[in-house]
Amino acid sequence: MLSITAEKFLFWKKKQLSKGGDQQSFAVLLDCMGGLSPVDLNLINLNPERNLYLKKNLEFLESIWNEHVLKSCPIQYLCGITFWRDLKLKVTDKVLIPRPETELIVDIVFNIFRNNSEKLFFAELGTGSGAISIALALAYPLSEGVATDIDQDALAIATKNYINSSKQSNLKFYCGNWWSPLESLKGKLDFVISNPPYIPADTYEKLPKEVKNFEPKAALIGGKDGLKHIREIIKQAPLFLKEKGWLILENHFDQGEKVKQLFIKNKFTSIENVKDLSGIGRFTIGRYK
Ligand SMILES: C[S@@+](CC[C@H](N)C(=O)[O-])C[C@H]1O[C@@H](n2cnc3c(N)ncnc32)[C@H](O)[C@@H]1O
Repeated sequence: MLSITAEKFLFWKKKQLSKGGDQQSFAVLLDCMGGLSPVDLNLINLNPERNLYLKKNLEFLESIWNEHVLKSCPIQYLCGITFWRDLKLKVTDKVLIPRPETELIVDIVFNIFRNNSEKLFFAELGTGSGAISIALALAYPLSEGVATDIDQDALAIATKNYINSSKQSNLKFYCGNWWSPLESLKGKLDFVISNPPYIPADTYEKLPKEVKNFEPKAALIGGKDGLKHIREIIKQAPLFLKEKGWLILENHFDQGEKVKQLFIKNKFTSIENVKDLSGIGRFTIGRYK
């Protein structure tokens, strides 16, 4: 640990933020690489007289910040870590950085299945870093989960994240195209969740460069209208869900109504668009008959 006066640190921090980037990314850098949590930071702001301790020196932290600002590379990829709900997850450019708005998908499950000692059987399609499935496997320790992805590299990261976050063994990882790794689970799932790629192809071209140049394209694009994968997932869901089982999907900010219609077309009931914290119909849920 390196000791430094809070005054010197605050001066340095101001200089780094004047180069560009935002406070949130800077907080991730300090937390992941410097060992300084947001709570520590608040204490320093309240009491600039004190000394603080860093895991890495200022020159090292500055070199990462410079790369972030100059190349627009997400700070999470540079640090190799992100925070999501109460999880600390390894991330590389093989996986999408799990977004704060996606955190709510776990709360949707909590609202539907209120008894955490229930023995549920669930699957997540397109797990990426494993964030959603790991949070659920931890929250429902008696449940059995299966997390899939088409990308073997993503699954390797998700598996590491699960091992690092848990001593449990109630989550398995399978590789393959959407439902194909789940053939043996037909009619058995209490619920299925997915945050599939849903960005329309032309919208993808206009995404900010920190997303477009660094995050995996296959995790983002959902064909011409963005609904290609969502259509496929909804169409086959009835084969895999138990009677009255739930399908819980994240969609693009303006796709809620269209996704609802797809649920109706495929004979789901109790269909609902669930809003995120910004009031956007970010999720669509329904149960099969
Ligand atoms: C939007 S990311 C979501 C990742 C993670 N669940 C999250 O919420 O942060 C979509 C994921 O679906 C995976 N994927 C894309 N096409 C797929 C397919 N045909 N079958 C299975 N997974 C696929 C991608 O590799 C990516 O990890």
